[in-house]
Amino acid sequence: MNEATASPKLPRHIGIIMDGNGRWAKSRGASRHEGHRAGVENIRPIIRATADIGVQFLSLYAFSTENWRRPSLEVQGLMTLLGEFLDREVDNLIAENVRIRHLGSFDGIANHLSHKISQAVARTQHCTRITLGVAFNYGGRQDIVNAVRHIVARGTPANQITEEMISQHLSSHDIPDPDFIIRTSGEWRLSNFLIWEAAYSEYWTTPVFWPDFTPQHLQQAIDDYAKRDRRYGGLSKST
Ligand code: FPP
Repeated sequence: MNEATASPKLPRHIGIIMDGNGRWAKSRGASRHEGHRAGVENIRPIIRATADIGVQFLSLYAFSTENWRRPSLEVQGLMTLLGEFLDREVDNLIAENVRIRHLGSFDGIANHLSHKISQAVARTQHCTRITLGVAFNYGGRQDIVNAVRHIVARGTPANQITEEMISQHLSSHDIPDPDFIIRTSGEWRLSNFLIWEAAYSEYWTTPVFWPDFTPQHLQQAIDDYAKRDRRYGGLSKST
């Protein structure tokens, strides 16, 4: 599907803030790690459902730059889960024609995990059905700072720095801005996720915790999106 044929009612790019793994675990008397593990198990069905609906880009917030503040055991657990996810799923993702992109930085990530991420990106670069943005060690403010540093470092005069230039230096530079951001677990925050790119995104939240978020919830969200009147700061078509 290209831009000319895509339905304006279908988001081209969905971002998901996968929240509530800890509360999901607590409600079952399980550990937080078990909650994150259940969260990872939910990723593949949601990627598949998103692709089946015809959405071209899906970005998942898996580990934020602020998540380093969590206990080191939990942080290590999340790193291990990403490594296991990539070991287990890259072949399946290739079979399903899913291209992986990494959003964020490798700073502070162990070499063996950075290597796995780079390998997953390289091995799936030919895939065309859907692009999966994995926001891992991602912070929107940090991404903007890095972009501006690159622009300044190459000697661009201040009065020539444009919005377009900043967009082109973000880690999402080859991905369209998200049309729609979904957050599970009933929270209403962006939490530093794609903050530049989400300037005109529509938002949707559900009380459902991420491990319980199903393709039916996704469809419900997309149906809701289809009713929205996106104005981008202009006037409604019906005004
Ligand atoms: C929020 O749950 C979730 C995260 C910290 C990130 C999302 C992580 C996953 C789905 C698993 C990791 C995925 C990969 C690919 C490594 P929370 O701990 O904030 O839940 P709570 O607010 O209920 O405590």
